[in-house]
Amino acid sequence: MSTPPTAPNRKGLVLAGGSGTRLFPLTLPFSKQLMPVYDKPMIYYPLSVLMLAGIREILIITTPHDRPLFERLLGDGSAYGIALSYAVQDEPRGLADAYRIGADFVGEEPSCLILGDNLFYGAYLTDMLVAVSARTEGATIFGYHVVDPRAYGVVEVEHTGPNSAKAISLEEKPEHPRSSLAIPGLYFYDRHAVAYAAALRPSPRGEIEITDLNRRYLAEGTLHVEVLSRGTAWLDTGTHENLIDAADYIRAVQNRQGLKVACLEEIGLFKGWIDRATIAENAKAYGKSSYGDYLRMVAADGTR
Ligand code: DAU
Repeated sequence: MSTPPTAPNRKGLVLAGGSGTRLFPLTLPFSKQLMPVYDKPMIYYPLSVLMLAGIREILIITTPHDRPLFERLLGDGSAYGIALSYAVQDEPRGLADAYRIGADFVGEEPSCLILGDNLFYGAYLTDMLVAVSARTEGATIFGYHVVDPRAYGVVEVEHTGPNSAKAISLEEKPEHPRSSLAIPGLYFYDRHAVAYAAALRPSPRGEIEITDLNRRYLAEGTLHVEVLSRGTAWLDTGTHENLIDAADYIRAVQNRQGLKVACLEEIGLFKGWIDRATIAENAKAYGKSSYGDYLRMVAADGTR
């Protein structure tokens, strides 16, 4: 896939609410998306994906209780060269609820929704994100081969070429999946997302389902599917096992290369949104942490 520039006005949404009950008691005092994945809070990883896609205007949706904590962590985003704003979801009404809460923020611009507990990493990921983001018509979802897709949205595809696929069906947590392709929590939409989301009705489990929003695009004939390659890691962090697997993965990659995954300041620099002097200044707040050392290295290293 070639890499045309990203859609200039694409807005980003990070859905970082929910009750995190599967991780109790860890998540009794605060949100799952603030929990560590090795050396940084979980939300750094999905935020890095939006930034790599070229998205600078981002709404973070949290619970009322956690909102001040996210604001304390990430501020207005200027440290990374992005503009962050915050909204609350008072109860978990479903993933597509992000487009009701974010209706004014998104308006009629293209957008990208990412779940605050999804991690993506891999070769060519940035090229693919930028290329997908450049599409201004329709929606793009992703497919990822997993051993057991029953816990996820599942897409059945028809291959239309070596690297292209067309969606045939979409199901949410099917008992008998029609394919092994789970749908990760990363969705690109055109300007219709807010209107389509407003028309959705709650599912039998009482949620406004992202799968129903995607079905609307499928019915309109404007749903694209990108099958993520074997070289891409998609990790979710729903259980204690997943959480430690994700931390182990990040630790192994970082320690081998000496490069950090999801360093937001480094991505801001790489995108040309902030300069080295800003990073050097901000590094002072990180004291003797490995993150602080890394920021000082990024600020000093002219090769990056
Ligand atoms: O991780 C990808 C999967 O995410 C998709 O394959 C499924 O199609 C999609 O429905 C979703 O499934 P989950 O069962 O993982 O959704 P869960 O309810 O666990 O919510 C995912 C994250 O979104 C979690 O961090 C909590 C947050 N959330 C969830 C809901 C329902 C919210 O912030 N607000 C909500 O209303």
